[in-house]
Amino acid sequence: MRPGLISFVAALAMALPGTGLAAAVGDIVLDSRSVSMGKAGVGPVVYPHALHEKLYKCAACHPKIFKEKAGATEMSMKLNMDGKLCGSPNCHNSEKAFPLYNCVKCHTKAGAK
Ligand code: HEC
Ligand code: HEC
Repeated sequence: MRPGLISFVAALAMALPGTGLAAAVGDIVLDSRSVSMGKAGVGPVVYPHALHEKLYKCAACHPKIFKEKAGATEMSMKLNMDGKLCGSPNCHNSEKAFPLYNCVKCHTKAGAK
């Protein structure tokens, strides 16, 4: 991910408290599969939670798709490709968001080598 995007997301998170929204959770690093990621040549996913809060209601994701605790949801690329998690039908498996083959949009270091 580009450093500029991370600071943009951080700025969003700081902007939120005055708006009455509940969470303003910052970036969440998703790396439970870091060994396989290393083998595949991609880095951890830095998930921009605050950005997703801006786009969707909490209930679109919690608790049905993701648990409300960092690291608590079992995640994998296979589940994404099976139409679960990030790859749910209205999300990164639809016209509404960039597609799953765009590795570098989610994984740090993707395409680095
Ligand atoms: C597009 C999906 C999405 C939306 C919308 C969303 N979240 Fe989340 N949320 C996630 C994901 C993914 C995680 C990480 C779960 C994990 O690691 O298992 C998460 C984690 C969290 C956490 C745990 C943070 C931590 O550090 O442990 C809280 C609290 C949370 N969300 C609250 C909210 C609230 C409140 C809203 C609405 C204002 C919201 N979320 C909207 C996807 C979403
Ligand atoms: C929409 C976001 C997103 C995109 C795009 C994406 N991934 Fe992932 N990927 C994830 C998440 C989330 C995980 C699980 C994170 C964790 O370890 O908790 C993951 C896990 C992985 C893993 C770990 C092993 C496994 O089976 O889970 C590999 C390898 C991987 N992705 C490769 C890729 C490649 C290669 C691409 C492009 C073809 C890609 N990913 C595109 C979000 C994404």
